[in-house]
Amino acid sequence: MALLAALLATVLCLSSQIKAQLVVGFYNSRCPRAESIIWEEVLKAFLKDKGIAPGLVRAHFHDCFVRGCDGSLFIDSTPTNVAEKDGPPNGITLRGLEVVDNAKARLEAECKGVVSCADILAYAASDSVVITGGRGWGVPAGRRDGRISRAAETIDIPGPFQNLDQITQAFAKKNMTQDEMIALSGAHTIGRSHCTSFSNRLYDFSPANSQDPSLDRFLAALLKIQCPQGPQGDVDPNLVVPMNRSPALFENSYYRDILAHRVVLTSDQTLITSPESLSEVREYAFNEREWQEDFADAMVKMSQIEVLTGTAGEIRSNCRVINP
Ligand code: HEM
Ligand SMILES: *[C@@H]1O[C@H](CO)[C@@H](O)[C@H](O)[C@H]1NC(C)=O
Repeated sequence: MALLAALLATVLCLSSQIKAQLVVGFYNSRCPRAESIIWEEVLKAFLKDKGIAPGLVRAHFHDCFVRGCDGSLFIDSTPTNVAEKDGPPNGITLRGLEVVDNAKARLEAECKGVVSCADILAYAASDSVVITGGRGWGVPAGRRDGRISRAAETIDIPGPFQNLDQITQAFAKKNMTQDEMIALSGAHTIGRSHCTSFSNRLYDFSPANSQDPSLDRFLAALLKIQCPQGPQGDVDPNLVVPMNRSPALFENSYYRDILAHRVVLTSDQTLITSPESLSEVREYAFNEREWQEDFADAMVKMSQIEVLTGTAGEIRSNCRVINP
């Protein structure tokens, strides 16, 4: 009997270790001011530039989808390695990473070698949602930083020209469901997009239609003014437009915009191309609270994809370079 109990306890303990690798409040004893230092840096930067909030939320997604949430997104390219940062979905579209550098510098001064870059980003993403009016979540922490960052692996990040099946597949590869993908796509309620992420919908859609028929005509007309074609028919790769009419407010208007065909990305509009996904979009369009809760739950799950814990990886001292 005692043997059985001991066995059971071991099994329970092992399985809980596997499940709860990360814990909320991880730094409470290790570096008590960590969470507040990160919050201060996010807030300070946000007051100067509202764009850093969407930037940090997206950065967390891009970090997690490539080799797990291991801070590999921050690593700079070197003469012998092209890093994630310089992969196709990143490059000039990334923003807000300097906030993590600033927080890291203060955290190294406060408690050297304790707080990982991957964790800083996970907190900063939650803070960014709170700052823009969304519902935060208890951030599970204890991630360690990876030592590998390869541009080629950014292929795992879904792209703006993909359809529902392709995007669902990309999430399935990370053990995330289509429902969770739809909830997370609501992050596009904040931020901006470069014109080149959707200009095919305005000028070059298909042999039959130069303009995407699933894009509202009035929005298309506006976007053509904001994203004009140059003499060669190309669109300036530096031009950007807001994702929607309230790009600094974390609310569910994104889903009503999809229903009205007023979203810029094909990958957003595609969310209503199956009966099941359409019904979830409708649900979120009219139930703000349900979406905020599902979004937070899905972020907690996404933030634990393939994390390094314990003695794996390292605590990078500079988020941009792996430790010597
Ligand atoms: C479902 C598949 C997704 C696709 C295809 C996609 C694609 C894109 C694209 C093309 C942009 C515009 C980037 C630019 O041109 O500057 C963008 C922006 C953004 N994405 Fe996604 N995304 C997806 C999912 C997500 C998820 C899961 C999140 C976070 C939970 C997210 C957060 C954001 C944010 C906040 C922005 C605005 C960035 C800024 O303002 O700097 N996206 N996304
Ligand atoms: C998905 O789940 C399977 C089975 O539990 C696991 O082997 C795999 O590593 C997981 N993949 C990711 C990206 O978490």
